[in-house]
Amino acid sequence: MIKQAIIPLAGLGTRLLPLTSVFAKELLPINGKPGLEYIINECIDAGIKQIIFIISKRKMMIKKYFYNDKFYKDLIKRKNDPKIKKEYQKILKYRKMIKFVYQNDPKGTGDAVLKTKKYIKDKYFLMLLPDDLIIKKNCSKSMIQTHKKFKSSVMASMSVNKKTVSRWGIYKLNKKLNTNDYLIRGVIEKPKINDAPSNKAVIGRYILPKKIFLKLKNLKPSKGGEIHITDAIQLLIDDKEKFIAHNFTGKYLDCGTMDGYINSSKEIAKL
Ligand code: G1P
Repeated sequence: MIKQAIIPLAGLGTRLLPLTSVFAKELLPINGKPGLEYIINECIDAGIKQIIFIISKRKMMIKKYFYNDKFYKDLIKRKNDPKIKKEYQKILKYRKMIKFVYQNDPKGTGDAVLKTKKYIKDKYFLMLLPDDLIIKKNCSKSMIQTHKKFKSSVMASMSVNKKTVSRWGIYKLNKKLNTNDYLIRGVIEKPKINDAPSNKAVIGRYILPKKIFLKLKNLKPSKGGEIHITDAIQLLIDDKEKFIAHNFTGKYLDCGTMDGYINSSKEIAKL
């Protein structure tokens, strides 16, 4: 069973400047709801019991969002509005399952994962990148099914335009296991178009083994001076650890860029 999920939230959000100079991008509304709530709901619906948020001092706004009790209590006392009570109840429900850890120096996704080391209890855990929304079908849930079937690590995969490979982690594929699952031989972070082994990209959902911490501990920064989870995954594959790329069937929305962010509200409004 996969019971714990981690969500890296310490990123600077430079692709959404100037908004992110004062605001946590994960709290920006997407069709009236913070993007982060879609991610939390995906976890809950997939059976996750605890979510670890990796934040930073700059992103304390995220913690405040879940710990603003005085504000709600005063408001409920003044206005006896059931809608306000309902919002507060929802926040309290989320809060029960959230734990905060800190990554004050945003050195990359690999470094963010390492910060959760002492809290991960089981052999495998889920990671979701909050820029990547997947709607219509719960991607984490179907990845957990793949994980149960093959007893392996699983990552979300999507075909992308070959011209855009340098924006993604790209898979080296091995054999096809069924309609949606491929065994992978490797993964390269943001390759140049001529170095890309395929056009299958990593999307931000990962079922990772606890063993990954052993690789992360000694990992040096690579592409863009960051410590990448992709590099740790490659080291595990070199050690014969089984990783599967899962072609998800939901619709992908990239909320990390301004165009993508604007489009995501439109797409969700259509549901
Ligand atoms: C990260 C990962 C990359 C992956 C992408 C998916 O990149 O490093 O491998 O393809 O998320 O969104 P980032 O978006 O942080 O540049």
